[in-house]
Amino acid sequence: MYLFHTIDEIRHHLAGLKKEGRSIGFVPTMGALHLGHLELVRRAGLENDIAVVSIFVNPIQFNNPEDLKKYPRTLEADMGKLNTTHCSIVFAPSVEEMYPEPDTSEFDFDELDKVMEGQFRPGHFRGVGVVVKKFFEIVEPDKAYFGEKDFQQLAIIKHMVRELNFPVEIVPCPIVREPDGLAMSSRNERLTAEERSIAPAIYEALCRVKESYSWFTPEGIGKMVIGDIEQNPLFRVEYAQVVDTGTLQPFHEWEETEHAILCIAVFLGQVRLIDNIVLY
Ligand code: PAJ
Repeated sequence: MYLFHTIDEIRHHLAGLKKEGRSIGFVPTMGALHLGHLELVRRAGLENDIAVVSIFVNPIQFNNPEDLKKYPRTLEADMGKLNTTHCSIVFAPSVEEMYPEPDTSEFDFDELDKVMEGQFRPGHFRGVGVVVKKFFEIVEPDKAYFGEKDFQQLAIIKHMVRELNFPVEIVPCPIVREPDGLAMSSRNERLTAEERSIAPAIYEALCRVKESYSWFTPEGIGKMVIGDIEQNPLFRVEYAQVVDTGTLQPFHEWEETEHAILCIAVFLGQVRLIDNIVLY
């Protein structure tokens, strides 16, 4: 497994592989890797000749400086985990390497970034767009793998790829969960023992709603889930919203859309967790 820190090094290495006609699968991450990330890497390795993983805590996508400061940085442990997969190349650049100058790109994500994460984390998706665009230009992958845990991010990346005509196939990957249902996340490590023990309540509430959603209105479902989860005062739900899986816009009647998803963001103590469930 190769580890590169500079753009020149990885470009040079990849140019050789591309000349040999090897296909490249790419998994962008911010490190602190868990089995959710490793599942993306596994698929990238299975479906391509070469799997490239980037590890970069992207400062411009954090709207909360405290969250950026506390984000775990564990390159050595991450390398150990990647060694157990089919990952061939790790790219772990510095902030100076990625941003020699402040990036001023603006994107038009239609209405996709006006709701949910976009509403509560201003600037977040511009930061994601900037860094993923840079990575696509450096790695030039045939396929890139993104988790459905960040469902809105996935929709925005698909939109960006269409808008900018990137010749890359975006491959969505299902959410990987802990045995008790909690969606795997690098942020789970920051939960206290007590918080961790109640965290599965989020997914349990989502599953309960999936059973009976059609008895209620889409708006009613959001309110029900909030009430359900906030029975325990350690939780504070930021939003719980039913939206169309394609446009990510809320709607009033179930008949208005063919596919709906319930997305949620919850503070558990100091830690902000997101999750979602496809209703139909
Ligand atoms: P990060 O949070 O490290 O996630 C990297 C990728 O792993 C994303 O595509 C995310 O959706 C996926 N992922 C995380 N947890 C998962 C889980 N439990 N199941 C399935 N997939 C999971 O998302 C980012 O980093 C950044 O925004 C990035 C795209 C790297 C840009 O900086």
